Amino acid sequence: MAFFDHVPDWRRDGRGLSGSLAWTGTHFGIRGLEERGLEAVADAVCAEDRESFLRIFVPTEEASRAGEFRLGLADGRVVFLYCDASIEMAADGRPARIFGTLHDVTDRRRFEAQLSDILREREMLLAVIDACPISITVADAQQPDTPLIYANRTFETLTGYTRDEVLGSNCRFLQGPDSDPAALRVLHDAVVTGSQAEVRLTNRRKDGTPFLNRLVLAPIRNDRGHVTAFIGLQSDVTDEARREEADKQRQRIEALGRMMGGIAHEINNLLQPITLMTEELIARHTDDAERPYLDAVLDCALNARRIIGDLLAFSRPSGRKAEVMDAATLLHDALVLIRKAVGPGIVMDLDVHSGDDRIAVRADKTAFTQVLLNLAGNAAAAMGGTGAIRIALTPGRMVAAGSTGRCARIDVTDSGCGMDRATLERAFEPFFTTKPIGQGTGLGLSVAFGLVKDMGGEITLDSAPGRGTTATVLLPEVIGDWYHGHHTRH
Ligand SMILES: Cc1cc2nc3c(=O)[nH]c(=O)nc-3n(C[C@H](O)[C@H](O)[C@H](O)COP(=O)(O)O)c2cc1C
Ligand SMILES: Nc1ncnc2c1ncn2[C@@H]1O[C@H](COP(=O)(O)OP(=O)(O)O)[C@@H](O)[C@H]1O
Ligand SMILES: [Mg+2]
Repeated sequence: MAFFDHVPDWRRDGRGLSGSLAWTGTHFGIRGLEERGLEAVADAVCAEDRESFLRIFVPTEEASRAGEFRLGLADGRVVFLYCDASIEMAADGRPARIFGTLHDVTDRRRFEAQLSDILREREMLLAVIDACPISITVADAQQPDTPLIYANRTFETLTGYTRDEVLGSNCRFLQGPDSDPAALRVLHDAVVTGSQAEVRLTNRRKDGTPFLNRLVLAPIRNDRGHVTAFIGLQSDVTDEARREEADKQRQRIEALGRMMGGIAHEINNLLQPITLMTEELIARHTDDAERPYLDAVLDCALNARRIIGDLLAFSRPSGRKAEVMDAATLLHDALVLIRKAVGPGIVMDLDVHSGDDRIAVRADKTAFTQVLLNLAGNAAAAMGGTGAIRIALTPGRMVAAGSTGRCARIDVTDSGCGMDRATLERAFEPFFTTKPIGQGTGLGLSVAFGLVKDMGGEITLDSAPGRGTTATVLLPEVIGDWYHGHHTRH
């Protein structure tokens, strides 16, 4: 701290800086202070602060005033000085004497600047965490029952709870009777031992709707290694899990198909001589009493070959003649045959998305007709033989190798009995049928599945009991100038 006592000489200098200056204490290392007095101080004041420095000397009514300014020192350092001045006025209304103290407040100002940097950074980090698209929670490990002390905005949107509702509570309010006990044990152990864990478990939002939560728990430790808090990351993986389940189901059906194909091939080889030789025997025993027996054998053998033929179509649908053609043409051609095949009680409504953007697909006509025939057959059966089947063709999107992502989407919709979850899950399995013996082989959908897959497409079912069924076939669009030489009839 320095004391100063300055008697301005107003005749020499309108600013009142010249005159006699007495100092005690530190001079803050300002060069030329002795010879030039306050002028030297004024020169050393940083340009931005000069005005507030000079204001201290401006003649006013106030007897004392204070101000702060930065001063550049001879050694290049900058100090923050706080000036507290008292003023004695002369009769002419100008300060006759200015005296007071100067404090070096550099450390305090530096600290404040750092603090405001830290606060700004903290605010930024909090904003980032809050806006993070993953749900983030923090629980205090040092309070009983590890209550939540932080939850970001995504947690609120994910769970439907507001922060005010959950802070202070243990996060198990998200659990319900359908939360997997094994996962709960893993969580319990992780919290007790202060270790990391990752589980998937069913949680419930505030409104009661369930979602599959992939929860990652990680401990936060202090320098001494004690767990002080836990961080919890929540994400809704309901859709992801459903897709995985569908993938698994598809792989299972494909594996079954390969196995069936192997067996079908073997049996087919055995059936060939059985039919041939039975036919031969029938030719020799035209009027025999044994003839009916042989007819029955041939009948069974032919039936068996038909079934085996279906199975082979399901498992090894290769070796077909795939053509590139307009999806609408393909559909129209197939429907000509299918209208004859479904019973007279069934109306087939065709709804083709009109527009000049036709979708070219690669398909074998016979195979495609077979697919539609099987779907229409199921739809007709589900409606008890009377009703309308709606077939719609629209542009769709699918992920397929070497395609634009665009595809032809064919929806076959009925208003029949529909399927429950269990039936829906197994519908594509070979030999799965809910129909009485003699009415269903359980091969219709598995054959359709195999054929569509062979065309690079996808087939899915959407159904609920009593609500009817929509079977959807997606065939990827073929790109290129295939239209040259391919004239469609539309
Ligand atoms: C930070 C943190 C976040 C958590 N998030 C969830 C959550 O989202 N869903 C959930 O079911 N459990 C969550 N838990 C776990 C439960 O709060 C509880 O610790 C766990 O079920 C074990 O409870 P118990 O010791 O009573 O068995 C979280 C725990 C912590 C520490
Ligand atoms: N459109 C539909 N409506 C209701 N159930 C259906 C439909 N399509 C298929 N299913 C169910 O899927 C099962 C398997 O169908 P599929 O493979 O064609 O064999 P099948 O028709 O010989 O039973 C059927 O038995 C039926 O339970
Ligand atoms: Mg069928």
